[in-house]
Amino acid sequence: MPRAKKTDVKKTNEKPKAKALKLEKAPKKTEEEIAKRRANAPQTLRGMKDVLPADQPYWEYVRETARRLAREFGYQRIDTPIMEETGLFLRSVGKQTDIVEKEMYSFVDQGEDKITLRPEATAAIVRAYINHGMWNQPQPVKMFYIGPMFRHEKPQRGRYRQMHQAGFEVIGSDHPVVDAQIAQIAHLIFKEMGLETVIHINSIGDEESRAQYKEELVNHYRSNRSQICENCKKRLTKNPLRLLDCKEEGCVAVRAEAPQIVDYLNEISKNHFVRVLEYLDELEVPYQLNPYLVRGLDYYDHTVFEIMPVGEGNDLALGGGGRYNGLVELLGGEPAPACGFSWGLDRIILYMKEKDFEIEDRGEPDIFLAQLGEPARRHMLALFNELRKEGIRTAESFAKDALKHQLEAANKLGARFTLILGQKEVLDGTVLIRDMHSGIQEVVDFKKIIPELKRKLATPRPIRPKPVEVESEPEELEVEEDDEEDKE
Ligand code: HAM
Repeated sequence: MPRAKKTDVKKTNEKPKAKALKLEKAPKKTEEEIAKRRANAPQTLRGMKDVLPADQPYWEYVRETARRLAREFGYQRIDTPIMEETGLFLRSVGKQTDIVEKEMYSFVDQGEDKITLRPEATAAIVRAYINHGMWNQPQPVKMFYIGPMFRHEKPQRGRYRQMHQAGFEVIGSDHPVVDAQIAQIAHLIFKEMGLETVIHINSIGDEESRAQYKEELVNHYRSNRSQICENCKKRLTKNPLRLLDCKEEGCVAVRAEAPQIVDYLNEISKNHFVRVLEYLDELEVPYQLNPYLVRGLDYYDHTVFEIMPVGEGNDLALGGGGRYNGLVELLGGEPAPACGFSWGLDRIILYMKEKDFEIEDRGEPDIFLAQLGEPARRHMLALFNELRKEGIRTAESFAKDALKHQLEAANKLGARFTLILGQKEVLDGTVLIRDMHSGIQEVVDFKKIIPELKRKLATPRPIRPKPVEVESEPEELEVEEDDEEDKE
């Protein structure tokens, strides 16, 4: 960097005209006024939320874990539209399910088409498999997705109307090893994010097995009709397997004595399930047999499972899935057996936050650039670009003048080092490096700053940068122009 002559500096250091427009400080608003303003502004819809910058590191961490496992297990990314024809979900998820009966965001668009915001993605992945002739590719086809889904559910802890799922689908194989590998991925995702989970697993067999079981199940519930809820009375004819899902006290008691589907599995279904469990043992995936697990979507057969967190009060399923051998044919494709699972990003993040889970890389900047005076600002603008090209995560607040405010911003962002360039440094061709963890500062030749920073950044970052109290400005800095208070 060429040294600036004192005269040049003086010339460029004239006060910018904008300063003449200094605004009168507005009187401070009371808490009540602020709350009123907030309440009067438009709000997000019920059950939907903003993901604020402070929470983004959780989302990035969770998404990256999913993407990494997809790469490691050979799944290719697919994105399908957020809206689909309503008929897709009626045919796949099932007309008698809660999702279709009560929870879909459906509307008729300007072209009179019946449209639904997707409540889940499996149906759309199967549609894409058929539409794009993926049966011509080597089978099975393994696909991975991530994105928002919409269900008009009653908002409560861990239950949102816009939620985000990541999912893994394998289409074109009926081998039980596929079910086990899918469950293994489900287990690994949570394990690698530091959450202990157990897989609740069951088999609902093939159609033949289910037909006989449903008869026995309905008989059992009919003989206890007085104890069950009104909804379940309807389920007796509409969708008997859903009887097992009811949380009403009377229905739970009737379920405890209900026949179990495993006793009704035919040879094919039994063999398939036993082999899935054997593979799970081999892969050391922890599971728990749950004879009444049926899942809330109609397309399943054979294996069904849900991923539950281990520990008290952990009652929300983190993910769920299973086999759906009939869905491709049901939606008009050549028969192709399939299996998959998806998990809720919102829920896992909720658990992580409740358990004070620390994200190591929160995307904090390595370097913060702080400047005093216009010539320094210009040098820092150029340096910012150089650091960016070197791949060094750099933050700044070029619009601020007061060093105190800039150092506060550096602290807030969690920068490891702050480079401080003042009037004296510009003249000397030097720059100050302040270690934000220890507060130690050293002077470095401006020309050598990039190799020097690289050397410093090669050492691991302290777990959490200790916030440094910024009481006064470092003495060694000369400021030629008034270090005017920044307007907040
Ligand atoms: P699902 O069980 O309906 O399955 O949803 C999977 C996961 O999404 C749930 O375990 C939960 O973590 C999350 N989830 C569901 N609804 C909500 C909500 N309202 N708020 C927050 N999180 C929610 C499916 O969607 C199937 N497509 C899974 C699958 C894939 N089966 C085969 N392949």
